[in-house]
Amino acid sequence: MRPGVKTTVRVKKISSKKELERAFRIRIRVFVREQGVPEEIEVDVDDQRATHLLAYIQGKAVGTARLVMRQGSAKIGRMAVLKRHRRKGVGKKLLRRAIATAKRQEARKIYLHAQAAVIGFYESVGFRAIGPMFDEAGIPHRKMIL
Ligand SMILES: CC(C)(COP(=O)(O)OP(=O)(O)OC[C@H]1O[C@@H](n2cnc3c(N)ncnc32)[C@H](O)[C@@H]1OP(=O)(O)O)[C@@H](O)C(=O)NCCC(=O)NCCS
Repeated sequence: MRPGVKTTVRVKKISSKKELERAFRIRIRVFVREQGVPEEIEVDVDDQRATHLLAYIQGKAVGTARLVMRQGSAKIGRMAVLKRHRRKGVGKKLLRRAIATAKRQEARKIYLHAQAAVIGFYESVGFRAIGPMFDEAGIPHRKMIL
C-alpha cells in the first residue's frame, strides 16, 4: 500500500457458517500459529453463543472479533488481524463495531482481557487497564474496561 492511500475496511456481523469458518481460520493463524496458543483452547464453548464480526479489505477477510454477554456485561475477545494487514485501522474498526454492538445489546459494562503487548491498542479506543497482570493461555494479560 502506497503511503497516503486509504484502505477501505468493511466490518460485518457474521451470518453464515462459511463466514464463521473464515473467522476461525484467522484466529488459528494468529493465535495458534503465530502466538503458540494450544488449538484445543482457541475455539471454546462461548463461540456457540457469541456475536462474531469479520473485517474485510477488498472482499478478503482480514480480521475478526467476538462479543459474549455475561450477566449483563459484554466481553470482547478473540480480536485478531492478519499480520500483513495490521496498523491499517482494521482492529480499531472491529473494536468500535464490537462496542456499538455491546451497547445495542444494552451491556451494563464492556470489558476484555488484553494481552499486555497490545494494551496501547485498546487504550486508543478508550479502554483502561484495571487490576493486576495475570496469565491466560501462557500469555500475560490485564483486564480492561471501557
Ligand atoms: C491487536 C491487533 C488486533 C490490533 O489490530 P490493528 O489492525 O493492527 O490495529 P489498528 O491499526 O486499528 O490500530 C489502532 C490504534 O492502536 C494502535 N496500536 C496498534 N497495535 C498496537 C500495539 N501492538 N501496541 C500499541 N498500540 C497499538 C495503533 O497505533 C492505532 O493508533 P492510532 O489510531 O492512534 O493510529 C493486532 O495487532 C493483532 O491481531 N495482534 C495479534 C493478536 C492479538 O494480540 N490480539 C489481541 C488479543 S487481546
